[in-house]
Amino acid sequence: MTRWLVTGGAGFIGSNFIRRALAERPDLALANLDALTYSGRRENLADCEPNPRYRFEHGDIADAERVEAVFHSFRPEAVVHFAAESHVDRSIGDATAFVRTNVQGTQVLLDAARRHNVARFLHISTDEVYGSLKAEGRFSEASPLEPNSPYAASKAAGELLVRAAAHTHRLPAIITRSSNNYGPYQFPEKLIPLAIVNALAGQPIPLYGTGENVRNWIHVDDHCRGLLAALERGQPGGVYNLGGDEELDNRTLLERLLGLLGQPLSLIQPVPDRPGHDLRYALDSSRARRELGWTPQVGLAPGLANTVEWYRANAAWLAAVRDAEYHDYYRRQYGARS
Ligand code: NAD
Ligand code: TYD
Repeated sequence: MTRWLVTGGAGFIGSNFIRRALAERPDLALANLDALTYSGRRENLADCEPNPRYRFEHGDIADAERVEAVFHSFRPEAVVHFAAESHVDRSIGDATAFVRTNVQGTQVLLDAARRHNVARFLHISTDEVYGSLKAEGRFSEASPLEPNSPYAASKAAGELLVRAAAHTHRLPAIITRSSNNYGPYQFPEKLIPLAIVNALAGQPIPLYGTGENVRNWIHVDDHCRGLLAALERGQPGGVYNLGGDEELDNRTLLERLLGLLGQPLSLIQPVPDRPGHDLRYALDSSRARRELGWTPQVGLAPGLANTVEWYRANAAWLAAVRDAEYHDYYRRQYGARS
């Protein structure tokens, strides 16, 4: 049995990854170390809980003693590190937790991984570490790191610690940088699930600034396929962009979602822009295609349609995640009731 320790597996991408990895790798045992912050829910993996190859470990990656205890008892051969504070707007409000989890927590995991001689350390990062593009061009792995938001800066700092561990201590680490994900189980603070949830309730959808900002959307299934490929076939010390095929400006994206939901475009409500809002992200993922044999398979049109259907069919999940903390956050962020 191969053993992988996943961090942050109760969140959006981590839970999709764990479900896929357990289903596709019959010889794999997984431990999921997660602090269950506002965005992590153990219920996201309720279907995996009965599986004897899966175990949940409640804990904070910045707590070195807890991390050591998990490594000691589970003895992972690989670490797949998702755990993070993940939302740009929250990082603008207060970056404290971003530094603790994304920077300090990453170093705690690197130290434990080294002590326990893990064979692979996969660090999940983001295209936001590159900063912002104008209308033309795409980021390659050689592009400079110029993060603009506190979230992006904390992810870049975490990555640099991974790079240093690989260089100095020969830790067999791999870094992936993906573009904006969408799909089932995404917490409704991010644009796509927030828009779907509000539209389902006939409520306004806040659109920052002009709505001309462009994101390079990737379905979470494609991202998870890329992560498995990077973990199993990536070059130690390597960095791989994992970007979707399609770019879309935010206004057009909202118009498409409202079309799918049969709701009027008048629900789009322009609101003041996000401070420091990055104009455009776009990734050149040719290295991953060439070296990992990976290619995204889910087109944006079917991907968005399936995502809308998932949120329609999972009203109980939505009601549970939109708890008192969510309503407080929404009021703070948008000055309106959610
Ligand atoms: P998420 O917010 O849905 O999930 C984060 C998970 O980490 C949650 O389960 C949370 O409980 C857990 N967590 C937070 N702090 C922790 C701590 N101190 N100790 C242990 N667990 C902790 O985020 P996501 O969208 O699933 O993102 C996962 C990873 O992918 C992050 O590293 C993020 O930076 C990266 N990423 C996300 C996107 C995207 O579009 N969502 C794109 C590129 C990269
Ligand atoms: P988001 O989902 O927060 O991802 P990121 O900031 O990491 O790219 O935002 C996606 C885009 O949507 C981004 O350009 C900001 C914009 N946006 C809005 O216009 N309104 C919103 O309420 C949110 C949350 C985002």
